[in-house]
Amino acid sequence: MIVTAAVTTAPEKRPDTHELSANASSTALASPFEPVVETPSDQLDLWPSYIIPKEAIDAEIERLVSGPRSAEGWRRSLIRHPRSDGAGRGLAPGIRVTLEVLLPGESTPLVRHNSTQVVFCIQGGGRVIIDARSRRFGQYDVWVTPSMATYRHTNDSDTVQARLVYSNAALLEKLNVHYVDTYPAEKPVSDNEAGTLEAVSTPFEQLFQVAEDDMELWLMSYERLVNPPVQESVSLMWPWRLVKPELDKLHALGPSYKGRRLYLLYNPSTGRTNGTTYNFFATMTIRPAGIADRPHRHTAAAINYFFRGSGHSVVGGKVYQWKAGDLMLSAPGWEVHNHVSHDDDVYELTVQDSPLHLAMDSLLWQEDMKRDPILIGSHHGWNTNRDVVS
Ligand SMILES: [Fe+2]
Repeated sequence: MIVTAAVTTAPEKRPDTHELSANASSTALASPFEPVVETPSDQLDLWPSYIIPKEAIDAEIERLVSGPRSAEGWRRSLIRHPRSDGAGRGLAPGIRVTLEVLLPGESTPLVRHNSTQVVFCIQGGGRVIIDARSRRFGQYDVWVTPSMATYRHTNDSDTVQARLVYSNAALLEKLNVHYVDTYPAEKPVSDNEAGTLEAVSTPFEQLFQVAEDDMELWLMSYERLVNPPVQESVSLMWPWRLVKPELDKLHALGPSYKGRRLYLLYNPSTGRTNGTTYNFFATMTIRPAGIADRPHRHTAAAINYFFRGSGHSVVGGKVYQWKAGDLMLSAPGWEVHNHVSHDDDVYELTVQDSPLHLAMDSLLWQEDMKRDPILIGSHHGWNTNRDVVS
């Protein structure tokens, strides 16, 4: 059964440590110190896998389009894992997923925030306007909403539009720094044009090395610290009509192929962290009928939306059946899992918070459960047999 809650931009007020300390001091001497407790990796309290079936998603779409819009002008629901509570609710601890719909002729309010989004159209189509640039989208297209970009969605079609929106708002709310501007200017605010390093006149170097013995250490000025080289975060869109033909070619890899038949919707701005946004990668996968992954695990959490075929997954030793139209927390971070396609080819979108972990140097990946985990990005990864089978 789907579990939903109205999407709010301000998480509920929770007592902070100062309030707790003040309360405690009325009965006992408060201390900021306590024992350090580290949970062994084999005793982590992982969230179980969780499926929101197509029927529940369809019913929620119907409920959203049948009632009035929210006071702010939205038709949307947050999809919450039963274990998610308090600030930063989501389908995984760091991934918020919302279901958003529009009736024909409707538009969302204009908004911007410092969270980034992967948006996936699961039904209908329309237009998205990001920083005043308008683009048309249809079913199974994927696009990115960059941080602090102003955007709105419009349904200029004659059918209901439904989108799944994957956001790092859950993480930012846990950090208590999710900035949401509900009345932004229509046009993007221009950069601070005076703030270029070249414009700063100073006898001091901005970035240089000092050396002692065999150590060479970098030092950076305050001016460079607060004004690093700008790398524009652009809004990219991957139309399904362009991705599907490339994906279908991976059929030729055959049943002996040991890798994953997928393409990452790669955003070059994310560089070596291999992301679609700075936080998530989104991959489109084809699973030919009767293909089974081998059991593996990674610290990144993965959420799958299946839109063709059916199959099952084994996650933490438990079997989960799924079919086209189901949304699934398919890989809670560090839980052992594998997926199996049944009688038809499967298409799926996977959103996974790997780029965040890669940037944090915490992306442990155990592809072979008989071997030690690899720290992706800092250790060498592994090869597949693609050169043999292709
Ligand atoms: Fe996985």
